[in-house]
Amino acid sequence: MATEAVLAAAAAVPAASTSQSVFSRKSSSPSSFNGAHLRHGFAASDNFSRQSGGRKGSPASTAAGKRRGVVTMGLSQDGPSIAVVGVTGAVGQEFLQVLHDRDFPYRSIKMLASKRSAGKKQEFEGHEYVVEELTEGSFDDVDIALFSAGGSISKKFGPAAVNAGAIVVDNSSAFRMDKDIPLVVPEVNPEALNGIKVGNGKGALIANPNCSTIIALVAATPLHKAAKVKRMVVSTYQAASGAGAAAMAELEQQTREVLAGQPPTCNIFSQQYAFNIFSHNASVLENGYNEEEMKMVKETHKIWNDSSVKVTATCIRVPVMRAHAESINLQFESPLDEDTAREILQNAPGVVVIDDRERNRFPTPLEASNKDDVAVGRIRRDISQDGNWGMPVP
Ligand SMILES: NC(=O)c1ccc[n+]([C@@H]2O[C@H](COP(=O)([O-])OP(=O)(O)OC[C@H]3O[C@@H](n4cnc5c(N)ncnc54)[C@H](OP(=O)(O)O)[C@@H]3O)[C@@H](O)[C@H]2O)c1
Repeated sequence: MATEAVLAAAAAVPAASTSQSVFSRKSSSPSSFNGAHLRHGFAASDNFSRQSGGRKGSPASTAAGKRRGVVTMGLSQDGPSIAVVGVTGAVGQEFLQVLHDRDFPYRSIKMLASKRSAGKKQEFEGHEYVVEELTEGSFDDVDIALFSAGGSISKKFGPAAVNAGAIVVDNSSAFRMDKDIPLVVPEVNPEALNGIKVGNGKGALIANPNCSTIIALVAATPLHKAAKVKRMVVSTYQAASGAGAAAMAELEQQTREVLAGQPPTCNIFSQQYAFNIFSHNASVLENGYNEEEMKMVKETHKIWNDSSVKVTATCIRVPVMRAHAESINLQFESPLDEDTAREILQNAPGVVVIDDRERNRFPTPLEASNKDDVAVGRIRRDISQDGNWGMPVP
């Protein structure tokens, strides 16, 4: 017998990619996305407890967490000292949000960005910090440096941070394919971090994968462990957030312009984004795939430590503000039926299953925004394959 299963997954882009790579998750409730009234933004997050992958509120204040009686660690003499590189950007702001959501203990936190932002104020957990210009000397007495300021900045300053004794968690593509640097999604391959320890004065680099790879592998790995994936076909529906704060602003501006009958301003993307979809803006390579698609292929091979798995991807930008969606079709070496696959996913770390056929309710970007879990739905056998060897996962 062969089974084709299909899973649907959607997850908040910067939130998922940063948090999953840096911090171990506490518990994850399978029902976390279901009960509450789901809305977009911080207002909705108040409906969720931390255990359900929800948000406490703005990291600028500690009040939200304390209001619900959550014991916060936050500023603590026993915690590591942290630096956030690219703190003014879309991902940098997500780093702060996730540190806050998870009560991550820290004895100090340094806010780093470019010269342009030096001197700006950044509030965090009730304290006001001054953004500093990133320099090679920024990492004295830093235990953990969270980097998200682009690949060239990581290449230039990452080694300096490591030499100063920091554990660098790098969100860019700079080191992902370096064979000596672990490429980690904690829910998928935490063992790759063995030997790396915070606070012993010995620096190290850890890379986290592209956001699309993280989403796909958080959903596909539990099934891969059960029945070994032979072939994975992924199609993405990627939000503006993956292209940074300026892209999100451009989508909003273009939407206003188009509705007002004006020509859209195209600074970040070379074509109209509002009310449109287009092939991912990453460079197109000689084989016809774009870089985003090839990242999914290569990173999956590295993370699964298995280059025999056949992977193909089609990456598309859709005019959604936050949270990428993916359609994932898996073909397995061993039979795996739909109910078993659903049960595996319901118990998988970092996964929330929303698979309500009766009401035709499945994961949406609005529901997944500002949450860390990968929402999976539409799990079904692929009728184009005989038996129980395949499955799609959006
Ligand atoms: N893994 C993932 O899922 C994922 C997703 C999205 C992005 N990323 C990576 O994260 C990077 C940042 O993405 P983003 O969406 O946050 O972009 P963004 O919103 O444009 O923010 C860029 C950040 O980098 C800082 N920066 C730029 N040049 C700098 C310099 N010379 N020195 C120090 N800081 C500098 C900016 O500071 P200023 O405000 O001072 O300019 C800003 O804080 C991307 O380039 C990409 O590599 C990864």
